[in-house]
Amino acid sequence: MTIQIIKTTPYADQKPGTSGLRKRVPVFSQPNYVENFIQSIFDSLEGLAGQTLVIGGDGRFFNDVAIQKAIRIAAANGFGKVLVGQGGLLSTPAASNIIRHYKAFGGLVLSASHNPGGPDGDFGIKYNVGNGGPAPEKITDAVYARTKVIDSYKALDTPDVDLSKIGTQQVGDMVVEVIDPVKDYAVLMQTLFDFEAIRGLFKSGFTMTFDSMHAITGPYAKAILEGLLGAPAGTVKNGVPSPTFNHGHPDPNLVYCKDMYDLLMTEAGPDFGAASDGDGDRNLIIGKNRFVTPSDSLALLAANAHLAPGYKAGIVGIARSMPTSAAADRVAEKLGIEMHETPTGWKFFGNLLDAGRVTICGEESAGTGSDHVREKDGLWAVLLWLNILAVRKESVDAIVREHWATYGRNYYTRHDYEEVDSAIANALVDNLRGRLSTLPGQVLNGLEVAYADDFTYHDPVDGSTSAKQGIRIGFKDGSRIVLRLSGTGTVGATLRVYLEQYEPPNGNHDLDVQRALEPLVGITEDLAGIKARTGRTEPSVIT
Ligand code: G6P
Ligand code: ZN
Repeated sequence: MTIQIIKTTPYADQKPGTSGLRKRVPVFSQPNYVENFIQSIFDSLEGLAGQTLVIGGDGRFFNDVAIQKAIRIAAANGFGKVLVGQGGLLSTPAASNIIRHYKAFGGLVLSASHNPGGPDGDFGIKYNVGNGGPAPEKITDAVYARTKVIDSYKALDTPDVDLSKIGTQQVGDMVVEVIDPVKDYAVLMQTLFDFEAIRGLFKSGFTMTFDSMHAITGPYAKAILEGLLGAPAGTVKNGVPSPTFNHGHPDPNLVYCKDMYDLLMTEAGPDFGAASDGDGDRNLIIGKNRFVTPSDSLALLAANAHLAPGYKAGIVGIARSMPTSAAADRVAEKLGIEMHETPTGWKFFGNLLDAGRVTICGEESAGTGSDHVREKDGLWAVLLWLNILAVRKESVDAIVREHWATYGRNYYTRHDYEEVDSAIANALVDNLRGRLSTLPGQVLNGLEVAYADDFTYHDPVDGSTSAKQGIRIGFKDGSRIVLRLSGTGTVGATLRVYLEQYEPPNGNHDLDVQRALEPLVGITEDLAGIKARTGRTEPSVIT
């Protein structure tokens, strides 16, 4: 086996987005496209010689091809060992745990999260650092700079490595160890949650359905829910990972999990429904007759986390992404703990978690997690909910209502305009940005603007600054409009509009969400002219 140095030419479009490099499979299939990006990652890292690299993906189409390339390039670049999930599989939170548990140098997470897969679907490559979390911007910027000038990559000339059997093999000077993707993760979950209490919950007749969406959480959910926790066989639906997600869209929201939602809204349905996405880091939580928004779920989990053994000493702080509703802020205030508002993207939580300043983090985009790993974690959120339900012995609906009666309710929705022409979307945002300073003090549709800015984040741990993270328009009554362009789309631009209105503890908590937020939709249209500029009469997706 020899190390080959292969000439290549740069691609101009390898800038990592919110969560790594994400493109259509035909883009990744171009000659040397994967090789250029992985070599650029390794070129941006110092001290990798002899170290351990974790590699795993969500099993989507092209996963197998990309993993073999990654192993060849890792071996040629001097890594001492690669830890790879059996069959090339690892959920994103499990990959984060493996990196931490085995003190690896870092890891390559192969996924495009909740985006569809298949020959024309999406693929992605993300680099995680030694704390188990996505590489910070300092590294992703360096990788991007490198992709623009790369002229060769190194690869070991070796046949494909057999990833089907657990065990160790030698590949050139490097060891490849194929590991059980579920085992270490299941052990970790048992250190955090009261499995005995949750077993008791299922024994008492509590019913649940978990939709793995033909994606990576199938094996994890079956082993934990149906295996260790004794939920009846069949609790986990769509539990066999498929390279195309059975031609579906593995995004656990009310659009793609509508059947489950409808079932939960009937008396005959189960007590609890949950789902996770393509790579297992997102979650959807629905109780009987009660959908829990991700922003509310973050607040509820933070307020009740002490009921689970892993958090019984209390949480030290909470962080949320800027567009996430302020529901969690009220919990932090009451607990007297730190609250942080960060830009969209889990990578921004890493420093706060490492510094021990926050325990629980969450995003409106269906992500919740804690300091147990450095990624959001879909099954973790489901297990924490189950632990809380087992201890409180109340329904999800009762727990949510009691929360609103204590803290008030933040009505919340997100309107997405997908595949908008990039130039039009950028012009819309630039135009609004240019007028922000004129807004404070103005009364729009009866609401007075308290502040209007483009969010800039100052990381309190490393002192770095991230500007232009989204337009925020806040009103005197606590309402808020946020506009930003998605950093995860692969075609055109996705304009996201986040709307929030606060209703105090003694206020009306039973309004229809879209109706409650209608005045803010009107203000957004007046300010941004979405209809006129994009020609769209309504959002593509409402969550
Ligand atoms: C991924 C990231 C999240 C982010 C979400 C939406 O799931 O891991 O941190 O919130 O994408 O990002 P976007 O830029 O598309 O709004
Ligand atoms: Zn995901």
